[in-house]
Amino acid sequence: MTGDDTSGGSDRSRTDGGRGASSDRSGGRSREGADEVALDPWGSSTVSDYRKLFEEFGIEEFEGILPAVPDPHYLMRRGVIFGHREYRPVAEAMAEGEPFAALSGFMPTGDPHIGHKLVFDELVWHQRRGGDAYGLIADLEAHAARGLSWAEIDEHTESYLLSLLALGFDPEDGELYRQSENRAVQDLAFELGTKANFSELGAIYDFDGETEVSYMQSVVTQMADICYPQLEEPKPTVIPVGPDQDPHVRLARDLAGRMRYFGVTEAYASFEATPAELACLRRAYDAREEYAEEPETPRCLEAADWLAESTAADRMSDDDHEATDDALEAAITKLENAGKEPLRPRTRFLDRNATEEAFEALIDAVEGEKRVYEGHVDSFELDPATAEELAREVELAHGGYGFLPPSSIYHRFMTGLTGGKMSSSIPASHISLLDDPEVGYEKVNSATTGGRETAEKQRELGGEADDCPVYELYAYLLAADDDAFAKRVYEECVGGERLCGDCKEQAAELMREFLADHQERREEARELLEATGVELESPRRR
Ligand code: TRP
Ligand code: SF4
Repeated sequence: MTGDDTSGGSDRSRTDGGRGASSDRSGGRSREGADEVALDPWGSSTVSDYRKLFEEFGIEEFEGILPAVPDPHYLMRRGVIFGHREYRPVAEAMAEGEPFAALSGFMPTGDPHIGHKLVFDELVWHQRRGGDAYGLIADLEAHAARGLSWAEIDEHTESYLLSLLALGFDPEDGELYRQSENRAVQDLAFELGTKANFSELGAIYDFDGETEVSYMQSVVTQMADICYPQLEEPKPTVIPVGPDQDPHVRLARDLAGRMRYFGVTEAYASFEATPAELACLRRAYDAREEYAEEPETPRCLEAADWLAESTAADRMSDDDHEATDDALEAAITKLENAGKEPLRPRTRFLDRNATEEAFEALIDAVEGEKRVYEGHVDSFELDPATAEELAREVELAHGGYGFLPPSSIYHRFMTGLTGGKMSSSIPASHISLLDDPEVGYEKVNSATTGGRETAEKQRELGGEADDCPVYELYAYLLAADDDAFAKRVYEECVGGERLCGDCKEQAAELMREFLADHQERREEARELLEATGVELESPRRR
């Protein structure tokens, strides 16, 4: 096994689409890819690292959605879950008792540890809120991307599942599976693979000519995992993971969209326009009073002239729009070509992958004023949300999947107990869910803290709970649902009333208790696991 780092349920070298492993295998090639600026999950989890994710990758801050979540989990309340992509539909479904799902996956490369526990808890929580819950073992990925033998994989597979069950996952209500055993997932992976090409995977994951085919297959398999909860019926689905998995989530969201029969967009005239061109058309439409002879029906040509002039004017004052210049030129040309055609807002259905019958059926289903073109149909009455619904309905009735883009939530990575990063190659830096309770006790007692050099200074200045791995243990795990307790630890620490020796002793005892209890529950979960029928010994050749 590689010396894999461990944390927060997923770690960089084993995740990030396997770029880490890919580099391992090609002699440490540097990881320069589209995501090079992604945070280092192993750096300390400072807010500024996460800020980058918001600004550069469009992950949204969880705080913004928190009020929409009914009775949020303590990891949400405490900001451990810090970011998301489009979690709102999941939160709304939960609040309204509508169907939704939660799925996450685990590479069986080592023992499950307290970082994985975050994800296990998140799955269980969504399940208890009425979601369909899925926990999967990414054994194909471990084999292809990490080179683990099937014997090693089997050993860890059982262990992950036992911990997930011990933490309350209900296997009768939810589903546990191994990638290698799930035929539906593999079939879906194959289909999704028709929408992704090598250059794209290469750019996202740093793949090159040396990357093994099975490795690439493990990526489309993960895409299929992520869409799997929607196979029977589209529904809001959340993927709780560490932020290192975001490239996977983004790709899955793209692929889910590419599978759709129809795209729904806004449009202003019969021709097609890119989003940047659309922005120009919208601007021209909104300004119609300024230039149109009849403001009710501004003509494309009039809009073209106006755009050309108005832009010439602001070009003088602003030299920062090179990027949009091309779009503008293109929009003007298209408008000129359309000549006297009126500029008129509408909702457009683009035929992306539809069969002929499905496209015909869609045309019939669009009520009210509409216009049919070669690859699209324009409705002058439907608003975009209704149009989306209609498009999905027709797609489903004609054999499509109708996927909703999967959502995600991201949790912070835990700091290693020895400072620095949590790494499974440094046992003292993390706590395995299989650690002997006494060992867990010792590890916590030997952890680095955010304390001052002397007790005296600590009383005077207070401890630095924000930089203390022990405080993290309280907040992420030991305080569980008890916010008042977590808050008390924090306040006593920064207020100088709490000294590290006692604080660690208390944490160490709680950890010992937690591990003893968890391990007992793991034993009790064996029967449950057996009843799931998940194959614990892979029939594959070693
Ligand atoms: N790639 C993930 C990891 O390295 C494991 C995984 C496979 C996964 N399929 C998934 C995670 C689907 C979330 C959802 O840990
Ligand atoms: Fe950390 Fe506790 Fe020391 Fe504060 S008192 S710095 S929380 S160990």
